[in-house]
Amino acid sequence: MATIQSILNETRTFTPSASFVEQANVSGMEEYDALCAEAEKDEAAFWSRLARDHISWHKPFTRVLDETNHPFFTWFDDGELNVSYNCLDRHQTTQPDKVALIFEADDGTVTRCTYQDLYRRVCRFANGLKSLNIRKGDRVVIYMPMSIEAVVAMQACARIGATHSVVFGGFSAKSLHERIIDAGAVAVITADEQWRGGKINYLKAVVEDALGRGETDSVKSVVVYQRGSGDLQLEANRDIWWHDLIRDQSETCEPEWVNAEHPLFTLYTSGSTGKPKGVQHSSAGFLLGAITSMQWIFDYKSSDIFWCTADVGWVTGHTYVTYGPLAVGATQIIFEGVPTYPDAGRFWKMIQDHKVTTFYTAPTAIRSLIKLGPDLPKQYDLSSLRLLGSVGEPINPEAWMWYYTTVGQSRCPLVDTWWQTETGAHMIAPTPGAVMLKPGSCTLSLPGIKAGIVDEAGHDVPVGKGGFLVIKRPFPSLARTLWGDPERFRNTYFPEELGGKYYLAGDSAHRDADGYFWIMGRIDDVLTVSGHRLGTMEIESALVASPLVAEAAVVGKPDEIKTEAIVAFVVLKGARPKAEDAHRIVQELRNWVSQEIGPIARPDEIRFGDNLPKTRSGKIMRRLLRTLARDEEITQDVSTLENPAILEQLKQAVA
Ligand code: WT7
Repeated sequence: MATIQSILNETRTFTPSASFVEQANVSGMEEYDALCAEAEKDEAAFWSRLARDHISWHKPFTRVLDETNHPFFTWFDDGELNVSYNCLDRHQTTQPDKVALIFEADDGTVTRCTYQDLYRRVCRFANGLKSLNIRKGDRVVIYMPMSIEAVVAMQACARIGATHSVVFGGFSAKSLHERIIDAGAVAVITADEQWRGGKINYLKAVVEDALGRGETDSVKSVVVYQRGSGDLQLEANRDIWWHDLIRDQSETCEPEWVNAEHPLFTLYTSGSTGKPKGVQHSSAGFLLGAITSMQWIFDYKSSDIFWCTADVGWVTGHTYVTYGPLAVGATQIIFEGVPTYPDAGRFWKMIQDHKVTTFYTAPTAIRSLIKLGPDLPKQYDLSSLRLLGSVGEPINPEAWMWYYTTVGQSRCPLVDTWWQTETGAHMIAPTPGAVMLKPGSCTLSLPGIKAGIVDEAGHDVPVGKGGFLVIKRPFPSLARTLWGDPERFRNTYFPEELGGKYYLAGDSAHRDADGYFWIMGRIDDVLTVSGHRLGTMEIESALVASPLVAEAAVVGKPDEIKTEAIVAFVVLKGARPKAEDAHRIVQELRNWVSQEIGPIARPDEIRFGDNLPKTRSGKIMRRLLRTLARDEEITQDVSTLENPAILEQLKQAVA
């Protein structure tokens, strides 16, 4: 870690305005400090107070945290609840006519859905799932476009106690296939078409391809929502249209009361090696994290129009689309399209049209919108905004400043929220009516979250020094395990090397003299491409699966828009291609990866060599490859290389 240095020296600070502080849920540092002190004094009392205040329990819990089976913690484990009941029933009775979802389609068509409507739609679909014999504990894969129906599908699973596993609609048949098998899914919920940016993707066709690849006998039903023409062949005894499934179903459905620890969902996330990890979340602990962060970090008010732009295929779309906003009774935007269609003013126009108050998006979107139209926000009325948020990767200070001044008009606090699929909810982020902001820092941890930075031995590092970001105490929204692989959960997140005590996030970070956290990046080889985390291993496996390829190594190189561009070093089975053939093979391989994993994993650059640089033990020298990818001077020791001549080959990108 000694080699990790902070190159950022940011000194600008921003304090919340008096008017924001006055109305804030956590108003001023005294209140923030008081919450932290309450958690410090009695952790169990703190979390149990919050769980009682914010969750409607069918059977109240008497136990709080159980650490006996470390690191497989349980929370509130003798309590019973239903997450869908918490999101729908309690608002359906108190504010039935409040709009829950404002859906804006790719073509701009707007549909509104009240809490009463949503409740009925979820109940009908939940009854439909039951009619397919789907039961508590069954796994259901959801492969859907952003839509009201995607939220309905997830909520309906929660209502009947089925564990959903949403697969992002951009993943390929191969990735979907792997996830269906790993989950042992009994059903797949999908749509005929997905409309994004004026283009159509045929989702059902991808499902068909995935199910045709074998070992998917667990899947008994495929439910197809008709988004488009509906012009497709359904397989008898397996497929059913969404509208046919719900036709005769009742508009009420008694929720299945489940234990607090019942798995609400699993969500696959890339690891640095091997197959994707099915991150498994609980019901009550996850819900509590979603609600408290809606209150503390998003400063939720009932008059808010909330918009988190994430797809439900990512954890952000679980916590801050399907669960958090509904649990607190919010009105929120669901957007089918992309930020650049029909032009790069789409987000700003939607904020204006729907009078959005709280806007939460990713740095990669911000960076591409800066590039496409730095002055576009000025053409729209953004005066409804009162809070901005960022998530997914470090936001560089210049993008932060643009977002803050041009979009937020220097009026709205900007919350940079650090968290992960595994943590379920925000971990390090400013409570906006209290904490002073610094561009590029996610600031301080939430009350009750004991984040720290340690060295390889698990000891705290001094101020300003880089180290491993850890969370030292359990918290309710932490993932419970990896689906079907508890040992991998333990080894990945509570490794022996750190004494097995702390949750290891896998990021490096440092703290400044004010105790502010600055995230420096992943400590493993996962790439961040346009807001997506991709394991290099998966891309390499895909390349090697091509009949042309013998060996491949993938690294990232910094990219202004995508965060990282993907550079692949490839050894072909045949001879190294001649210049005239290289271009064609590059295209072929890029398309291949696209089909194997998905377009997001398509390499930006491919270079060919007769071999890859390896250590004596046969390990690929990735650091050397990173240097080559960046076209930097080689300073590493290359004396162990068997064939130094290949470095000259690998320096050359295919034109
Ligand atoms: C990883 C988690 C959290 C939901 C979306 C991504 C990076 C996330 C930030 C931030 C710096 C961030 C980290 C983290 N990350 N938010 N505000 N500042 N880095 O979920 O796919 O599980 O990725 O994203 O590296 O470990 P995920």
